[in-house]
Amino acid sequence: MLKIAVLISGGGSNLQSIIDSIKKDSLDCSIEIVIADRPNIYGLERAAQNNIKAEVVDRKQYGRELSEKIYSLVRDKVDLIVLAGFLSILNGDILKAFKNRIINIHPSLIPSFCGKGMYGIKVHESAIEYGVKFSGCTVHFVDDGTDTGAIICQKMVPVYADDTAETLQNRVLVEEHKALPEVIKLFSEGKIKKIGRKVIIE
Ligand code: GAR
Repeated sequence: MLKIAVLISGGGSNLQSIIDSIKKDSLDCSIEIVIADRPNIYGLERAAQNNIKAEVVDRKQYGRELSEKIYSLVRDKVDLIVLAGFLSILNGDILKAFKNRIINIHPSLIPSFCGKGMYGIKVHESAIEYGVKFSGCTVHFVDDGTDTGAIICQKMVPVYADDTAETLQNRVLVEEHKALPEVIKLFSEGKIKKIGRKVIIE
């Protein structure tokens, strides 16, 4: 069975979507560990409610050593690392050791509204301000850039004239909660093939 680590920084609704898919039997994988880069976030409660091991690797405490510490917790223990609303940037050995085995969900259609400083509600504020008619979410492999890895899956939603960042965020989240479990399932079934930047689903 596929073993995964889920990394979070906030409410953990994407973590919950993975937990729910496992419970529904639509996803055959086990969450070995949840790692949070800050304490006292609701995502940690979700882990506790579901008896999932959780660790806080506080980015304020670990600073530049954050990736190293996370690597020590997942090394040889998981097959896939899932960034589910994780707002720190990974670097160093963990990226090499887990090449093509770290995925991230981002709440826009990459390459729009992504990159450094683009996270959470800011993404939706930018999309509304720009006036796009469609937005959505992207699941991609993590490389050494910010939101630059090969795209695995995108889901699109309309943007309406009376949308606020919050209404758009909620519409996009519905799609995120489908996209992330879907991609983990495809990964667990060995159906994701990457050729250069192109990802082919078999
Ligand atoms: C999600 O919308 C996720 O796509 C976004 O943070 C939110 C976390 O929600 N991630 C990023 O912006 C990463 N750049 P959650 O904690 O409820 O899953």
